[in-house]
Amino acid sequence: MAGSIFNRRWCLAVEQQFAPRLIAWQKDHGRHGLPWQVSDPYRVWLSEIMLQQTQVSTVLGYYPRFLQRFPDLATLAAAPVDDVLAYWSGLGYYTRARNLHKAAQKVVSEFGAVFPAEREAIETLPGIGRSTAAAIAAFCFGRRETILDGNVKRVLARCFGVEGYPGDKPVETQLWQLAERLLPADNLDMVPYTQGLMDLGATVCTRSKPVCTLCPMVDGCIAARDGRTAELPVKKPKKAVPERETVMLLALRDGEVLLERRPPSGIWGGLLSLPQFDSTLAIVDWLAANGEGDLAPAWPPLVHVFTHFKLTITPQCVELVRLSGDVCADNGWQWWPLATALDAGVPAPVRRLLQQALDGAVPAE
Ligand code: ADE
Repeated sequence: MAGSIFNRRWCLAVEQQFAPRLIAWQKDHGRHGLPWQVSDPYRVWLSEIMLQQTQVSTVLGYYPRFLQRFPDLATLAAAPVDDVLAYWSGLGYYTRARNLHKAAQKVVSEFGAVFPAEREAIETLPGIGRSTAAAIAAFCFGRRETILDGNVKRVLARCFGVEGYPGDKPVETQLWQLAERLLPADNLDMVPYTQGLMDLGATVCTRSKPVCTLCPMVDGCIAARDGRTAELPVKKPKKAVPERETVMLLALRDGEVLLERRPPSGIWGGLLSLPQFDSTLAIVDWLAANGEGDLAPAWPPLVHVFTHFKLTITPQCVELVRLSGDVCADNGWQWWPLATALDAGVPAPVRRLLQQALDGAVPAE
Protein backbone atom coordinates (compact mmCIF):
# COMPACT_ATOMS: atom_id res chain seq x y z
CA MET A 1 0.00 0.00 0.00
CA ALA A 2 2.82 2.40 0.98
CA GLY A 3 4.17 2.67 -2.56
CA SER A 4 0.85 2.57 -4.44
CA ILE A 5 -0.08 5.17 -7.03
CA PHE A 6 -3.05 6.10 -4.88
CA ASN A 7 -0.81 6.83 -1.89
CA ARG A 8 1.68 8.81 -3.99
CA ARG A 9 -1.09 10.97 -5.47
CA TRP A 10 -2.58 11.42 -2.01
CA CYS A 11 0.78 12.55 -0.62
CA LEU A 12 1.39 14.95 -3.49
CA ALA A 13 -1.96 16.65 -2.86
CA VAL A 14 -1.27 16.84 0.88
CA GLU A 15 2.23 18.22 0.23
CA GLN A 16 0.74 21.08 -1.79
CA GLN A 17 -1.79 21.90 0.91
CA PHE A 18 0.65 21.60 3.81
CA ALA A 19 2.28 25.06 3.98
CA PRO A 20 -0.84 27.21 3.32
CA ARG A 21 -2.85 25.25 5.90
CA LEU A 22 -0.08 25.39 8.49
CA ILE A 23 0.44 29.14 8.04
CA ALA A 24 -3.29 29.88 8.38
CA TRP A 25 -3.50 27.63 11.44
CA GLN A 26 -0.46 29.23 13.09
CA LYS A 27 -1.94 32.70 12.75
CA ASP A 28 -5.13 31.72 14.59
CA HIS A 29 -4.07 28.87 16.87
CA GLY A 30 -0.28 28.94 17.20
CA ARG A 31 1.80 30.40 20.00
CA HIS A 32 2.35 34.14 19.95
CA GLY A 33 4.05 36.54 22.36
CA LEU A 34 6.86 34.23 23.51
CA PRO A 35 9.84 36.42 24.50
CA TRP A 36 12.06 34.94 21.76
CA GLN A 37 9.61 35.67 18.94
CA VAL A 38 11.81 38.51 17.74
CA SER A 39 14.14 38.99 14.78
CA ASP A 40 17.39 39.50 16.75
CA PRO A 41 19.48 36.41 15.90
CA TYR A 42 21.28 36.49 19.27
CA ARG A 43 17.98 36.20 21.15
CA VAL A 44 16.55 33.59 18.78
CA TRP A 45 19.76 31.54 18.90
CA LEU A 46 19.83 31.64 22.72
CA SER A 47 16.19 30.47 22.89
CA GLU A 48 16.76 27.66 20.42
CA ILE A 49 19.71 26.36 22.44
CA MET A 50 17.88 26.67 25.78
CA LEU A 51 14.80 24.96 24.29
CA GLN A 52 16.79 21.89 23.23
CA GLN A 53 15.79 19.12 25.65
CA THR A 54 14.08 21.72 27.87
CA GLN A 55 10.41 22.70 28.25
CA VAL A 56 9.19 26.18 27.29
CA SER A 57 7.92 26.72 30.89
CA THR A 58 11.43 26.04 32.29
CA VAL A 59 13.16 28.23 29.71
CA LEU A 60 10.82 31.13 30.49
CA GLY A 61 12.40 31.23 33.96
CA TYR A 62 16.03 31.29 32.75
CA TYR A 63 15.89 33.25 29.49
CA PRO A 64 15.25 36.79 30.85
CA ARG A 65 17.79 36.35 33.66
CA PHE A 66 20.45 35.22 31.18
CA LEU A 67 19.70 38.14 28.87
CA GLN A 68 19.87 40.61 31.73
CA ARG A 69 23.44 39.48 32.47
CA PHE A 70 24.44 38.93 28.80
CA PRO A 71 22.26 41.40 26.83
CA ASP A 72 24.12 40.94 23.55
CA LEU A 73 26.55 38.69 21.75
CA ALA A 74 29.59 40.87 22.49
CA THR A 75 28.88 40.79 26.24
CA LEU A 76 28.54 37.01 26.13
CA ALA A 77 31.77 36.59 24.15
CA ALA A 78 33.70 38.78 26.61
CA ALA A 79 32.37 37.10 29.77
CA PRO A 80 34.29 34.41 31.69
CA VAL A 81 32.90 30.95 30.90
CA ASP A 82 32.26 30.35 34.61
CA ASP A 83 29.79 33.26 34.62
CA VAL A 84 27.98 31.73 31.67
CA LEU A 85 27.84 28.36 33.44
CA ALA A 86 26.54 30.01 36.61
CA TYR A 87 23.64 31.55 34.67
CA TRP A 88 22.99 28.16 33.02
CA SER A 89 23.13 26.33 36.34
CA GLY A 90 20.04 24.11 36.73
CA LEU A 91 19.21 23.90 33.00
CA GLY A 92 21.48 20.86 32.54
CA TYR A 93 23.34 19.73 29.41
CA TYR A 94 26.14 22.20 30.15
CA THR A 95 27.90 21.56 26.86
CA ARG A 96 25.19 23.82 25.45
CA ALA A 97 26.44 26.72 27.60
CA ARG A 98 30.11 26.08 26.74
CA ASN A 99 29.30 25.94 23.03
CA LEU A 100 27.16 29.07 23.28
CA HIS A 101 30.13 30.92 24.73
CA LYS A 102 32.56 29.50 22.14
CA ALA A 103 30.14 30.33 19.32
CA ALA A 104 29.77 33.94 20.52
CA GLN A 105 33.57 34.24 20.47
CA LYS A 106 33.68 32.77 16.96
CA VAL A 107 31.06 35.24 15.68
CA VAL A 108 33.21 38.07 17.09
CA SER A 109 36.52 36.74 15.72
CA GLU A 110 35.42 35.28 12.38
CA PHE A 111 32.24 37.13 11.42
CA GLY A 112 33.11 40.66 12.61
CA ALA A 113 30.63 40.35 15.52
CA VAL A 114 27.73 40.13 13.03
CA PHE A 115 25.61 36.99 13.30
CA PRO A 116 25.69 35.20 9.92
CA ALA A 117 22.43 34.96 7.93
CA GLU A 118 23.09 31.87 5.81
CA ARG A 119 22.18 28.48 7.22
CA GLU A 120 25.48 26.96 6.05
CA ALA A 121 27.50 29.65 7.88
CA ILE A 122 25.38 29.44 11.04
CA GLU A 123 25.93 25.68 11.07
CA THR A 124 29.71 26.18 11.40
CA LEU A 125 29.21 27.62 14.91
CA PRO A 126 29.80 25.27 17.86
CA GLY A 127 26.64 23.63 19.18
CA ILE A 128 24.45 24.54 16.21
CA GLY A 129 23.19 21.69 14.07
CA ARG A 130 21.38 21.89 10.76
CA SER A 131 17.87 22.25 12.21
CA THR A 132 18.80 24.96 14.72
CA ALA A 133 20.73 26.84 12.02
CA ALA A 134 17.68 26.62 9.78
CA ALA A 135 15.40 27.93 12.56
CA ILE A 136 17.63 30.99 13.04
CA ALA A 137 17.97 31.59 9.28
CA ALA A 138 14.20 31.32 8.82
CA PHE A 139 13.11 33.30 11.89
CA CYS A 140 15.64 36.14 11.62
CA PHE A 141 16.46 36.34 7.92
CA GLY A 142 13.40 34.80 6.20
CA ARG A 143 15.53 32.15 4.54
CA ARG A 144 13.76 29.18 2.91
CA GLU A 145 15.41 26.60 5.15
CA THR A 146 13.61 23.76 6.85
CA ILE A 147 13.82 22.75 10.47
CA LEU A 148 13.65 19.05 11.36
CA ASP A 149 13.71 18.48 15.10
CA GLY A 150 12.06 15.57 16.91
CA ASN A 151 8.63 17.23 16.92
CA VAL A 152 8.73 17.96 13.21
CA LYS A 153 9.87 14.41 12.44
CA ARG A 154 6.81 13.18 14.35
CA VAL A 155 4.41 15.48 12.45
CA LEU A 156 5.83 14.46 9.07
CA ALA A 157 6.11 10.74 9.85
CA ARG A 158 2.44 10.68 10.86
CA CYS A 159 1.06 12.96 8.16
CA PHE A 160 2.91 11.23 5.30
CA GLY A 161 3.03 7.72 6.79
CA VAL A 162 6.86 7.58 6.83
CA GLU A 163 7.91 4.12 8.03
CA GLY A 164 11.13 3.29 9.92
CA TYR A 165 12.86 4.83 12.93
CA PRO A 166 13.58 8.53 12.12
CA GLY A 167 16.99 8.27 13.84
CA ASP A 168 18.13 5.88 11.10
CA LYS A 169 20.05 7.70 8.39
CA PRO A 170 17.96 6.68 5.33
CA VAL A 171 14.70 7.56 7.11
CA GLU A 172 16.17 10.87 8.28
CA THR A 173 17.31 11.70 4.74
CA GLN A 174 13.84 10.93 3.44
CA LEU A 175 12.35 13.28 6.08
CA TRP A 176 14.77 16.12 5.20
CA GLN A 177 13.83 15.79 1.53
CA LEU A 178 10.14 15.76 2.35
CA ALA A 179 10.50 18.76 4.71
CA GLU A 180 12.25 20.73 1.97
CA ARG A 181 9.49 20.01 -0.54
CA LEU A 182 6.93 21.34 1.94
CA LEU A 183 8.50 24.82 2.35
CA PRO A 184 6.30 27.75 1.33
CA ALA A 185 7.33 29.52 -1.89
CA ASP A 186 7.43 32.98 -0.35
CA ASN A 187 10.24 33.95 2.04
CA LEU A 188 7.78 36.24 3.82
CA ASP A 189 5.88 33.16 5.04
CA MET A 190 8.92 31.55 6.65
CA VAL A 191 8.34 32.92 10.17
CA PRO A 192 4.71 31.75 10.65
CA TYR A 193 5.48 28.53 8.75
CA THR A 194 8.48 27.60 10.93
CA GLN A 195 6.72 28.61 14.14
CA GLY A 196 3.67 26.67 12.93
CA LEU A 197 5.71 23.49 12.51
CA MET A 198 7.02 23.86 16.06
CA ASP A 199 3.59 24.73 17.47
CA LEU A 200 1.74 21.90 15.73
CA GLY A 201 4.24 19.35 17.07
CA ALA A 202 4.22 20.81 20.58
CA THR A 203 0.50 21.45 21.08
CA VAL A 204 -1.56 19.23 18.71
CA CYS A 205 0.50 16.42 17.16
CA THR A 206 1.93 15.47 20.55
CA ARG A 207 3.79 12.25 21.22
CA SER A 208 0.97 10.71 23.23
CA LYS A 209 -2.72 11.54 22.80
CA PRO A 210 -2.47 13.84 19.76
CA VAL A 211 -5.52 16.09 19.41
CA CYS A 212 -6.30 15.20 15.79
CA THR A 213 -9.68 16.98 15.91
CA LEU A 214 -7.81 20.30 16.18
CA CYS A 215 -5.25 19.52 13.46
CA PRO A 216 -5.34 21.46 10.20
CA MET A 217 -3.90 18.39 8.40
CA VAL A 218 -6.32 15.78 9.77
CA ASP A 219 -8.11 15.01 6.50
CA GLY A 220 -4.78 14.40 4.74
CA CYS A 221 -2.94 12.61 7.56
CA ILE A 222 -2.12 8.97 6.87
CA ALA A 223 -1.66 8.06 10.55
CA ALA A 224 -5.05 9.60 11.47
CA ARG A 225 -6.72 7.93 8.47
CA ASP A 226 -5.31 4.50 9.36
CA GLY A 227 -5.56 4.83 13.18
CA ARG A 228 -1.76 4.60 13.51
CA THR A 229 -0.83 7.73 15.51
CA ALA A 230 0.44 5.49 18.35
CA GLU A 231 2.68 3.55 15.93
CA LEU A 232 4.17 6.48 14.00
CA PRO A 233 6.87 7.63 14.17
CA VAL A 234 8.39 4.18 14.67
CA LYS A 235 10.09 4.00 18.08
CA LYS A 236 13.79 3.55 18.65
CA PRO A 237 14.74 -0.08 19.17
CA LYS A 238 15.14 -0.42 22.97
CA LYS A 239 18.51 -0.82 24.73
CA ALA A 240 18.99 -1.17 28.49
CA VAL A 241 20.11 2.08 30.19
CA PRO A 242 23.39 1.47 32.00
CA GLU A 243 23.34 2.34 35.70
CA ARG A 244 26.23 3.81 37.67
CA GLU A 245 26.63 4.62 41.35
CA THR A 246 28.67 7.17 43.26
CA VAL A 247 29.00 8.50 46.78
CA MET A 248 29.25 12.28 47.13
CA LEU A 249 31.07 13.79 50.07
CA LEU A 250 29.48 16.83 51.70
CA ALA A 251 32.37 17.81 53.96
CA LEU A 252 31.39 20.77 56.15
CA ARG A 253 33.62 22.94 58.34
CA ASP A 254 32.87 26.39 59.81
CA GLY A 255 30.04 27.08 57.30
CA GLU A 256 32.22 26.00 54.37
CA VAL A 257 31.90 23.02 52.03
CA LEU A 258 34.52 21.15 50.02
CA LEU A 259 33.93 21.39 46.27
CA GLU A 260 35.77 19.74 43.41
CA ARG A 261 36.36 21.23 39.96
CA ARG A 262 35.31 18.59 37.39
CA PRO A 263 37.66 17.85 34.48
CA PRO A 264 36.95 20.06 31.44
CA SER A 265 35.31 17.31 29.37
CA GLY A 266 32.90 14.52 30.23
CA ILE A 267 29.82 14.77 32.42
CA TRP A 268 29.41 18.13 34.16
CA GLY A 269 32.64 19.17 32.38
CA GLY A 270 34.34 22.09 34.14
CA LEU A 271 31.59 22.57 36.73
CA LEU A 272 32.12 22.69 40.46
CA SER A 273 30.75 19.56 42.08
CA LEU A 274 31.11 17.54 45.28
CA PRO A 275 34.08 15.16 45.68
CA GLN A 276 33.08 11.65 44.65
CA PHE A 277 34.02 8.29 46.14
CA ASP A 278 33.26 4.70 45.18
CA SER A 279 31.74 3.84 48.57
CA THR A 280 30.93 5.21 52.02
CA LEU A 281 33.79 3.05 53.32
CA ALA A 282 36.19 4.98 51.07
CA ILE A 283 34.97 8.19 52.77
CA VAL A 284 35.57 6.63 56.19
CA ASP A 285 39.14 5.82 55.07
CA TRP A 286 39.63 9.34 53.69
CA LEU A 287 38.43 10.80 57.00
CA ALA A 288 40.72 8.56 59.03
CA ALA A 289 43.69 9.63 56.89
CA ASN A 290 42.92 13.35 56.98
CA GLY A 291 41.51 14.21 60.39
CA GLU A 292 38.46 13.68 62.51
CA GLY A 293 34.78 14.22 61.96
CA ASP A 294 31.26 13.00 62.46
CA LEU A 295 29.54 11.00 59.73
CA ALA A 296 25.91 12.12 59.53
CA PRO A 297 23.21 9.45 59.21
CA ALA A 298 22.69 8.48 55.57
CA TRP A 299 20.67 10.84 53.38
CA PRO A 300 18.40 9.22 50.80
CA PRO A 301 20.04 8.61 47.42
CA LEU A 302 19.27 10.81 44.40
CA VAL A 303 18.85 9.44 40.90
CA HIS A 304 20.05 11.63 38.03
CA VAL A 305 19.30 10.55 34.47
CA PHE A 306 21.78 11.46 31.74
CA THR A 307 21.33 10.75 28.05
CA HIS A 308 23.36 7.54 28.16
CA PHE A 309 23.14 6.33 31.75
CA LYS A 310 21.44 6.64 35.10
CA LEU A 311 23.51 7.80 38.07
CA THR A 312 22.51 6.95 41.64
CA ILE A 313 24.11 9.39 44.06
CA THR A 314 24.45 8.49 47.72
CA PRO A 315 25.21 11.65 49.67
CA GLN A 316 27.44 11.37 52.74
CA CYS A 317 27.59 14.40 54.99
CA VAL A 318 30.62 14.78 57.29
CA GLU A 319 31.02 17.50 59.96
CA LEU A 320 34.79 17.93 60.19
CA VAL A 321 36.17 18.51 63.67
CA ARG A 322 39.89 18.51 62.90
CA LEU A 323 42.05 18.32 59.78
CA SER A 324 45.58 16.95 59.89
CA GLY A 325 46.75 18.73 56.71
CA ASP A 326 45.71 20.49 53.52
CA VAL A 327 43.02 18.28 52.00
CA CYS A 328 42.94 20.45 48.86
CA ALA A 329 46.50 19.81 47.71
CA ASP A 330 46.75 18.53 44.11
CA ASN A 331 43.17 17.33 43.69
CA GLY A 332 41.23 20.35 42.40
CA TRP A 333 39.31 20.61 45.65
CA GLN A 334 38.51 23.94 47.26
CA TRP A 335 36.64 25.24 50.30
CA TRP A 336 33.59 27.36 49.49
CA PRO A 337 31.21 29.18 51.85
CA LEU A 338 28.07 27.02 51.72
CA ALA A 339 25.82 29.99 50.91
CA THR A 340 27.85 31.21 47.90
CA ALA A 341 28.49 27.69 46.57
CA LEU A 342 24.87 27.72 45.37
CA ASP A 343 25.62 30.70 43.11
CA ALA A 344 28.50 28.87 41.39
CA GLY A 345 27.93 26.70 38.32
CA VAL A 346 27.00 23.41 40.00
CA PRO A 347 25.00 20.50 38.55
CA ALA A 348 21.32 20.23 39.55
CA PRO A 349 21.63 17.29 42.00
CA VAL A 350 24.61 18.96 43.72
CA ARG A 351 22.54 22.13 43.99
CA ARG A 352 19.82 20.13 45.76
CA LEU A 353 22.31 18.64 48.21
CA LEU A 354 23.90 22.01 48.97
CA GLN A 355 20.45 23.49 49.54
CA GLN A 356 19.62 20.66 51.94
CA ALA A 357 22.88 21.21 53.79
CA LEU A 358 22.21 24.95 53.94
CA ASP A 359 18.70 24.36 55.28
CA GLY A 360 20.27 22.09 57.90
CA ALA A 361 17.66 19.55 56.92
CA VAL A 362 18.18 15.83 57.28
CA PRO A 363 15.94 14.61 54.46
CA ALA A 364 13.53 11.82 55.31
CA GLU A 365 14.02 8.42 53.70
N1 ADE B 1 11.13 25.12 20.68
C1 ADE B 1 12.16 25.40 19.90
N2 ADE B 1 12.01 26.60 19.33
C2 ADE B 1 10.84 27.12 19.78
C3 ADE B 1 10.13 28.30 19.57
N3 ADE B 1 10.60 29.24 18.76
N4 ADE B 1 8.95 28.47 20.20
C4 ADE B 1 8.49 27.50 21.01
N5 ADE B 1 9.12 26.35 21.25
C5 ADE B 1 10.28 26.15 20.64
